[in-house]
Order: sequence, then C-alpha cells, then structure tokens
Amino acid sequence: MTSGRGAWITLEGGDGSGKTTQANLLADWLTDAGRTVVRTREPGGSEVGQLIRDIVLHHRGDIAPRAEALLYAADRAHHVATVVRPALDRGEIVLQDRYLDSSVAYQGAGRVLDGTEIRDLSLWAAEGALPDLTLLLDLDPDAARERLDSADKPFDRLEAEKAEFHGRVRDAYLALAAEEPDRFLVLDASASVAEIAAAVRARVEELLG
Ligand code: TYD
Repeated sequence: MTSGRGAWITLEGGDGSGKTTQANLLADWLTDAGRTVVRTREPGGSEVGQLIRDIVLHHRGDIAPRAEALLYAADRAHHVATVVRPALDRGEIVLQDRYLDSSVAYQGAGRVLDGTEIRDLSLWAAEGALPDLTLLLDLDPDAARERLDSADKPFDRLEAEKAEFHGRVRDAYLALAAEEPDRFLVLDASASVAEIAAAVRARVEELLG
C-alpha cells in the first residue's frame, strides 16, 4: 500500500493450513528485531468486525451469497479504515490473517458469485488498499482436513463445507498468486514449521530492507 510508511503483510490459505502458527512466529521475530507489530485478522479485527464475525461464522442457517460477501466487505471497510491504515501511518507492521484474497477464494468458490466482482467490491470497501506482501500457505485439502479433525475444535460454517469446495478454494488461491507474483509468496504448507518460517523470514527481510 502506498499511503503508509509501515508494511502490511497478510496471510492466506485454507482452513488448517497453519497461518496462525506462522503469523505468531513472524510476529515474535519482528518484535525481537525491535519492530512494532499489529497482529490482526479478518473477519473480526475491529469491534464492529467482531459482531460481523459472529454473524458470518456462527449464524445458524443460510446467508444469501451476496449478503455474505457484503458482510465480509463491511468488516473489511471498517477494519482498513480504523485499524490498518492508522497503524501503517504510524510506521508499524501490520500482520494480518486473511484479507480480500479470502473473499475471492471462498465466496468465489461457492460458484454463485464471480471472482472479479468480489474483488472489485472488496477494493471499493478498502479504497483500493492492497498488502505489500501476501503469504499463501498452500495445502492439499485432505491434509488440511486431517489437521482440523485432530484439533478437536467445533467446525465453523466454512470449515464444514465439502472437500470439493475446499479444492476450489485452493485452486482460486493459486490462480490469484499466479496473477500477482510480486505480491504473493506461495509456501508449501506440508513442509516443517521451521522450514516455512525460514522462507517467510527471508522474504520479509527483503521487503523491509
Ligand atoms: P479464520 O478466522 O481465519 O479461521 P481459520 O483460523 O479456521 O482459518 O477464518 C474464518 C473463515 O472465514 C474461514 O473459513 C474463511 C472465511 N472467510 C471468507 O469466507 N471470506 C473472507 O473474506 C474472509 C476474510 C474469511
């Protein structure tokens, strides 16, 4: 993003791909190096966003696809305006679980909505803001499902979707990364935690100079 002096890094990937583990390791590493890190996420990175998160992830029953896309976009609009931009303007590093690529991959994978429309909606919501770097943890959906099953947590609405849906999410992510190779770093999420962390650090060092 051009307006801020800080750096904005997002993490993307299917459910169970290890985003949070890597985000925590990267945050600790940056903090130890003396940087100020803002850890945040979508949906739910702001107070208003928490309310929206509760609706989109835990509402029992269907949400019309366009309503769902608009809820994610509303969360994004408020989050970028009140959390992300102010932090970047203060020169901080924003480390964020999920951003608009999640909307394109997940809402687009439902097949009802068009990926370009979803991306345009998100860009409108966020006034065109794009991260400096997006780390994509790429994992075969079957392997991801095994990890989620062993985590012993109840599934949210999207985690409970069928394997076929998660295959489409993965394909959509890889297509997005191919379209914007400078913004994305694709990581093989089946590698060890340490190996992935090392690749992430190398790329972030490059970014921060
Ligand atoms: P998240 O809190 O990252 O869950 P997890 O830790 O299991 O990855 O994300 C919650 C869900 O929200 C996830 O299944 C993906 C979905 N999601 C969308 O469908 N569209 C979006 O725009 C975003 C940000 C998330």
